[in-house]
Amino acid sequence: MFKRWADSPYQMAASKPLSKWVVWAPVLTTSVYPYFLNAFHTLVTSVEPGAVISPVYLLLATVVMLAIFSVPAMGFALACQRITRQHNAVAQLKVRRLALFIICAPTLYCFVGVNLIMLGSPVPDEWFWAASWIGFGLYLSRDGSGLQQPIRPIRAMPALRVAHGIAGAIVLLFIAFHLFNHLFGLAGPQVHAQVMEIGRTVYRSSFVEPVLVIALLFQVFSGLRLAWNWSSVGSDNYRIFQVGSGVFLAVFILGHLNAVFVFARTYAGIETGWDFASGDPVGMIRDPWGIRLLPHYAIGVFFIITHLFSGLRVVMLAHGVSKSGANKTWWGGAVIGALISLLIMLGITGVRLS
Ligand code: HEM
Repeated sequence: MFKRWADSPYQMAASKPLSKWVVWAPVLTTSVYPYFLNAFHTLVTSVEPGAVISPVYLLLATVVMLAIFSVPAMGFALACQRITRQHNAVAQLKVRRLALFIICAPTLYCFVGVNLIMLGSPVPDEWFWAASWIGFGLYLSRDGSGLQQPIRPIRAMPALRVAHGIAGAIVLLFIAFHLFNHLFGLAGPQVHAQVMEIGRTVYRSSFVEPVLVIALLFQVFSGLRLAWNWSSVGSDNYRIFQVGSGVFLAVFILGHLNAVFVFARTYAGIETGWDFASGDPVGMIRDPWGIRLLPHYAIGVFFIITHLFSGLRVVMLAHGVSKSGANKTWWGGAVIGALISLLIMLGITGVRLS
């Protein structure tokens, strides 16, 4: 299954130096990601709640929202692009892994924000974020040695892949309920809380909760190992999506567990119900800190569903299903993921069905 690579893993690619802009353009764009969020927040809060939004503001807010989502999309575009194929192996690898980091920007920014609060940092999150990305850009653009190294061949890792799939099935039981629960946000906080109470009797029980957390941590670290392996070679866009969404989910899950267990329940003593999830009473959109949760949750929900369908596609191909059939199933999963994500986000930002 690995022989489809146009450029063999062993191939020594040309040693043309990589243009610094291939690194700096995406790094600098990602470094201003928080300012896109701030701009959206400023635009939305300049209109009083309940007031009619002028078309100009609506257009501006839409453009800025697109800019927010274009940052992880740029990560995908960079991971899928072919320009680095003409460059040496180390440069290819560097850009591909940078691209994976950029995909994670929305969830990494939440992770950074939660930890800076707990550390009592006086430095604004935006500055910390921008300085870290510029530092990362300097690190990546230094002239490294070993630029002529060949790309190392990927390892099949069948046992780890099977274990990742089995632990994923356990985790799926919780996630299916958890997302179903969040859909009830459309019916209002009370109904959402009632459904959560029912689920909590199971997933917060003294036996289930530790098993769930261990299974999730296993998913994170086994997934990162697999992603490190797969990212060492170029691939088709479906596989790149599987790896990219997996890396995002690894950061998302670590950050989400940190926010729920460490920040809310231990550090701040906050009840992790509706208000914690939605940022109420101010609301996710109107809160200058909370606005970052919008792309974090929206993409998290979309990726958890599409990542599962990416795994299903690989299993289907391995069982002789035609490529077009497997790809159509993946696209069906992407539509379902986008719809569920949209519905949850509408509920969490205040839209009610009745
Ligand atoms: C819109 C998206 C999401 C929101 C708003 C959200 C919100 C929450 C909230 C409020 C809790 C606390 C639950 C409680 O106190 O009973 C929680 C717990 C949790 N969430 Fe999420 N979540 C989202 C998506 C996800 C996803 C995609 C995953 C998995 C990848 C996930 C994994 C977890 C886990 C493992 C817990 C801990 C459960 C426990 O208390 O034992 N969440 N989440």
